[in-house]
Amino acid sequence: IAIALLDDQQRVVLDNHEYKQLTDDLGVTDPAKQVLAELRNTIGLAFEPPKLGGRNFVDEEICVHPISGKAARWFSCSGSWFEQQDAKADSFFDPQARAYLMLLIKDITAAKRQREMERIGAIRATMAEAELVQSLRETLSGAVYQLRGPLNMIRAAANMLDRRGTQIDTAMLKNALKEALTAGEAALGTFEASMPEAPQEATAPVNLNDILRDVLMLLTERLLAAGITVAWQPTSRLSHFHGRANMLRSMFKEIVENAIEAMNERGRNVRELKVRTEEKDGRIVAVIEDTGPGISQELRHKVYEPFFTTKRPLSHSVGMGLAIAQDVATRHEGTIDIDPDYTGGCRFIIGFPPSGS
Ligand SMILES: Nc1ncnc2c1ncn2[C@@H]1O[C@H](COP(=O)(O)OP(=O)(O)O)[C@@H](O)[C@H]1O
Ligand SMILES: [Mg+2]
Repeated sequence: IAIALLDDQQRVVLDNHEYKQLTDDLGVTDPAKQVLAELRNTIGLAFEPPKLGGRNFVDEEICVHPISGKAARWFSCSGSWFEQQDAKADSFFDPQARAYLMLLIKDITAAKRQREMERIGAIRATMAEAELVQSLRETLSGAVYQLRGPLNMIRAAANMLDRRGTQIDTAMLKNALKEALTAGEAALGTFEASMPEAPQEATAPVNLNDILRDVLMLLTERLLAAGITVAWQPTSRLSHFHGRANMLRSMFKEIVENAIEAMNERGRNVRELKVRTEEKDGRIVAVIEDTGPGISQELRHKVYEPFFTTKRPLSHSVGMGLAIAQDVATRHEGTIDIDPDYTGGCRFIIGFPPSGS
């Protein structure tokens, strides 16, 4: 913390080493002047030697632009006024109090920059999420609209069958169903044509340890925020296999995110994520284990269905995580299983054949 004692003429009468350092850093001879000018702008500080105690201030944040054109610096400033009676003899008959300002200047540039980065990061994340949700909404509402036509035709045909007593006109019925079929197929064709291409990624030798390490790094903040301890146990020798690293990363990200969400339930106090790798019977295996509520036997197959979710409708969950994970596993000739014997939560076992098999 830089400290300067100013007299009522804004002259520095006393300072410390940090204050002198500031002089060099800002490239000015008198940083206090610049700081006071900023304080005047931001909090309307008037540099008036007070009659009796001026306005003190605490932790006021200001931004100073060094003249040298270097990056802006942030300071947190505090100041307190005090008076000193002039003890000189000639002031005996005309007692004069001199006011001094003790100015404390703390450099908070690094902390400020960090906060700003976090804020931008958060904005970027919410924006990406909002965009994703928006485009999903558009796609799905397009799909809903397209399917309504054929469904209406089928309903009309069913109504026709329902009307008892009347002669059933099979020709008409056949016609209606055929039309519904044509419209349905056209709708499917539209969806298929509008399905975006998956980004092409070349296969390369990948190491499952690296993939999992990346994913844990990506999710570090979320894991910390949820108070989850992570036991990461990569096996020291693990063969490579041919795969698409980005795809594999998103697969494991979905699985670990599910684990976080499962353990994030209120009231769960044991929160441990175990991630390990092994090579077993010639297969490269990852085991991901959490201490959440687990997945009941009845749901163990259903959870892989697209759009299946048990999470709140307002959460960002759309139930595609495990569907994606399953798809990635299949594309790598891998398997993904939920261990039925594990009762402490949920244990996913993901296995890949070694390359060349
Ligand atoms: N680790 C887990 N623990 C408990 N339940 C899980 C776990 N992973 C997945 N599930 C269940 O599987 C469902 C589907 O998961 P997912 O396909 O990722 O969709 P989402 O996460 O969007 O709900 C989840 O809603 C949840 O009920
Ligand atoms: Mg999920």
